[in-house]
Amino acid sequence: MNTRIEITTPDDWHLHLRDGDRMQAVVQHSARQFGRAIIMPNLTRPVTNTAMAMAYRDRILEALPPGNTFQPLMTLYLTDTTSPADIDEAAAEEHVVACKLYPAGATTHSDAGVTDLRNIYPALQRMAETELPLLVHGEVTDPRIDVFDRESVFIDRVLIPLREQLPELRFVFEHITSSEAVHFVNDQEQNVAATITPQHLLLTRNDLLASGLRPHHYCVPILKSINDKKLLVEAATSGDARYFLGTDSAPHARHEKESACGCAGIYSAHAALELYCEIFDAVGAMDKFESFAAFNGADFYGLPRNSGTITLEKSSWTVPDEYDFAGERLVPLRAGTELAWRLSDD
Ligand code: DOR
Ligand code: ZN
Repeated sequence: MNTRIEITTPDDWHLHLRDGDRMQAVVQHSARQFGRAIIMPNLTRPVTNTAMAMAYRDRILEALPPGNTFQPLMTLYLTDTTSPADIDEAAAEEHVVACKLYPAGATTHSDAGVTDLRNIYPALQRMAETELPLLVHGEVTDPRIDVFDRESVFIDRVLIPLREQLPELRFVFEHITSSEAVHFVNDQEQNVAATITPQHLLLTRNDLLASGLRPHHYCVPILKSINDKKLLVEAATSGDARYFLGTDSAPHARHEKESACGCAGIYSAHAALELYCEIFDAVGAMDKFESFAAFNGADFYGLPRNSGTITLEKSSWTVPDEYDFAGERLVPLRAGTELAWRLSDD
């Protein structure tokens, strides 16, 4: 059995870094683990244009530990008023690599998101022309739809028509959670890929609801069934180039999650690679880990693969109960428990 693996430096293709002191508190975790990360634009004031994205990028670079070469890859937050000219500007800036679709009301800071895809059709068309990928939060917000069905209904109502109308648009179905999503992605021959988070590969809704209400296991899209998780693990560990790593690490202060109305988001940046490694190891697919973590995402985005390497070794360590979060507390995934794999610092 492998007790040590060296792979090409991986990237995180879906990350929430927040801003200001909170960003300063968490960015080191991602910067230690990854070469690059796609930075989500759902700040309190969303990142809706290229100038805002570039200013945010500067703030992230300033917050990095000295000498660290982590590269933030920026995204724009689409609104009902995003225009083709906004897309042209983004496409001309090498540091902006995609645009994010938040259906209005679907998740944290999504109120300014898109209320109807028809409103941004000209922008989407320009994205297809300029080959700027669309990153999709794939859930309907219709209150008549059960929360566990929001992703599968989104496939039927939005993604299937979008594929028919704009087959050239390249998109990433972000943080997929359901068997329906895996089937949808498997059916697409080109231009569609998907990210998968560690929590959706490790946990099910039982871990959220079956032995007390676990607010630190609450994220959106919500954790699904045991069967959904099985199919996600099969997809992630299959070696299929359409699937790649995206943690969706989303820090919220402890008191914001342990609340009568708790925030959605799971923090995994402290141990992202170790968590994924555990999953690949458990199903005997360590030979597929490098493509999932370091090749497939770069290839989809048309970016060079990283040139460095990292090493993971089978050597247990205990995740802290909490991290400092700009004077607040941040409870990480698997807080206080032992992990089998460790990212080596040498
Ligand atoms: O659980 C989530 N948290 N899902 C998202 O889509 C957003 C994220 C956040 O920003 O907290
Ligand atoms: Zn996210």
